[in-house]
Amino acid sequence: MADAPVASVGPVPFKDVDADSGSGSSVLEQLPEEHADLVSGLPCAPRPNGLSNLRCYEGFWLPEWSVPAAVALQRRFQPRRDDVIVASFPKCGTTWVNALTFATMARRAHPAAGAGHPLLRLNPHQCVPFLEALFRSRRGEAKLEALPSPRLMNTHMPLRMMPRAAPGKVVYVCREPKDMVVSLWHYLRRLQPDLPLADVSESVCGGAAMYGPVWDHILGYRSASTARPDSVLFLRYEELLRDPAKHVRKLARFVGLPFSGAEEEAGVVDDIVKLCSIGHLKTLEANKTGHVDPIFPIPREALFRKGVAGDWVNYMTPEMARRIDEIVADKFHTTGLTFQEWLTHADSIDL
Ligand code: A3P
Repeated sequence: MADAPVASVGPVPFKDVDADSGSGSSVLEQLPEEHADLVSGLPCAPRPNGLSNLRCYEGFWLPEWSVPAAVALQRRFQPRRDDVIVASFPKCGTTWVNALTFATMARRAHPAAGAGHPLLRLNPHQCVPFLEALFRSRRGEAKLEALPSPRLMNTHMPLRMMPRAAPGKVVYVCREPKDMVVSLWHYLRRLQPDLPLADVSESVCGGAAMYGPVWDHILGYRSASTARPDSVLFLRYEELLRDPAKHVRKLARFVGLPFSGAEEEAGVVDDIVKLCSIGHLKTLEANKTGHVDPIFPIPREALFRKGVAGDWVNYMTPEMARRIDEIVADKFHTTGLTFQEWLTHADSIDL
């Protein structure tokens, strides 16, 4: 256990209270026996370069190791009324929203402008526990149980894998799918440098991408946020880029911790935005060194690339882009959700 001070109420920086952190025991502990048959009976999409194969479970392509976690989550997760879960499809701004939500919720114990802020010494993913990793084992579940309220957690699981009547709140972030594909390609190339963008794009379009189909992932949370706006906050990465302060205020209200007049006057919102900006996070040792996971060999710095909207134009062929746009139009046309404003957006927005 690290000897950094631990706040008396949540969310606490998870690494500070995780006795196993740094031991290398992580998400790829061996598969629990009771689930081996279930996993081996599911449709499989093999993946190269040490990446976990994908298995199609309840309509979603989950990393093989996380199928038992999905089962355990559905059966045993004991949600609390004041839980907050950051949910996302990979490469849609998870790291940023984890940081913003943590900084917002923990601001009384850890003022964002303070020299000792946990985000100055820890990667955002070390502050916010990853649900499917914890639900790999009873020991992980116990760690979650031991956390003080309110808890802040993170997941890539589709809404379907969460317990049905979870009383807490979910902050979901989605991103223009072409930019997500380009971001994912850059990320995976850390493991497979010759990976063609076309392969990543094809697997996303076909559905068999990690946690895909992305459209169903987005639609699940989108419809929940429409039905229960007090429980599910639906954010878009591009809107966060445009006006991060506005969205930090929205986030704070949503989690029941609106900024007071005194906080507004003191510039707390801007402090949080600055603390969590990609330009700042990139410079920190905790984000420049180490790996995303002790045994997942992608360097942490790969989590912070460009952080802009519209970067797809620099990499995608018109055919690739058209294919994704057609699927998006088809899947989302009844929902009112469009990414239209980004389709012709040739210039990246710099932060
Ligand atoms: P790009 O690869 O397009 O730059 P995730 O955290 O879900 O893995 O998403 C990664 C994407 O979010 C990457 O996009 C990364 O650069 C961007 N990102 C990470 N931290 C960010 C921040 N603080 N602000 C804005 N974007 C950020």
